[in-house]
Amino acid sequence: MAVPARIITLITGASSGIGAALARRLAARGEHVVLVARRRALLEQLVAEIAATAGSAEALPCDVTDREAARACVADVLRRHGRVDRLILNAGGGGRTPPEHLTAAEMRAAFDLNVMGVAHFVEAALPALLQQGSGQIVAIGSIAGFRGLPHAASYGAAKAALMNYAESLRVDLAPRGISVTLAAPGFIVSRDTRKKRSKPMAMALDPAADRLAAAIVARQSYVSFPTLLAWIARLLRLLPAAFYDPLIRALDRR
Ligand SMILES: NC(=O)c1ccc[n+]([C@@H]2O[C@H](COP(=O)([O-])OP(=O)(O)OC[C@H]3O[C@@H](n4cnc5c(N)ncnc54)[C@H](OP(=O)(O)O)[C@@H]3O)[C@@H](O)[C@H]2O)c1
Repeated sequence: MAVPARIITLITGASSGIGAALARRLAARGEHVVLVARRRALLEQLVAEIAATAGSAEALPCDVTDREAARACVADVLRRHGRVDRLILNAGGGGRTPPEHLTAAEMRAAFDLNVMGVAHFVEAALPALLQQGSGQIVAIGSIAGFRGLPHAASYGAAKAALMNYAESLRVDLAPRGISVTLAAPGFIVSRDTRKKRSKPMAMALDPAADRLAAAIVARQSYVSFPTLLAWIARLLRLLPAAFYDPLIRALDRR
């Protein structure tokens, strides 16, 4: 009987937080994880940790905002493994930006990382995925992309753009055998959120990563959690601006 091929999973933003937590979980399922981020030392540390538990991983340092670097990274994986099965395009983030610090450059940086950092990998991998007629793309959006939040103009706008992009991809690619999973998590206590002030219903990293890994493996189209916060965020979308604006300002001051 033929041995089933190992799933090849590329994860961006794998040097810390959610990306590293997903890498540990998917490697524990027997997937070969390709770890992508800028900090080589952290990636190599995680490769060693995964290898010590009999998992399979490799580090591929890359800045996702660099289109050519993303192309080279995917080409390298395809050359050595012959295919890629999952792309978890998780690298992203952004801090709180008060109005005094809102500049076009700050907005561009948010889009370069959270939107173009995903588009570069989609562009690089899509021809191979289409040829395979199989595969999965995972985009990590955020509840911050649902509606404008205080001090989150650039990050929220970038995540809103990413989520719309991922939904379009999902509609277009399903008939071609490629699934797209869009995640819109609420607040997760990782390095990204340490400095943020208001973190209603913040989830610890481990349960959040468990939830996300389960949704990815099940090829869910969409996942948003924690469930109560996701529902509140959906309901807030329906509120007229006259109610929404003072309410969200008050919630942010808590
Ligand atoms: N934490 C939350 O509350 C929360 C909520 C909703 C959504 N999210 C989203 O979840 C994702 C992961 O966030 P996290 O909380 O795990 O943050 P994190 O711990 O700060 O991790 C961010 C990851 O992205 C990588 N990264 C940043 N810029 C990069 C670049 N230019 N090129 C390559 N890699 C880059 C970082 O690695 P290097 O610095 O080594 O490059 C790091 O591995 C992000 O997309 C974030 O927006 C987070």
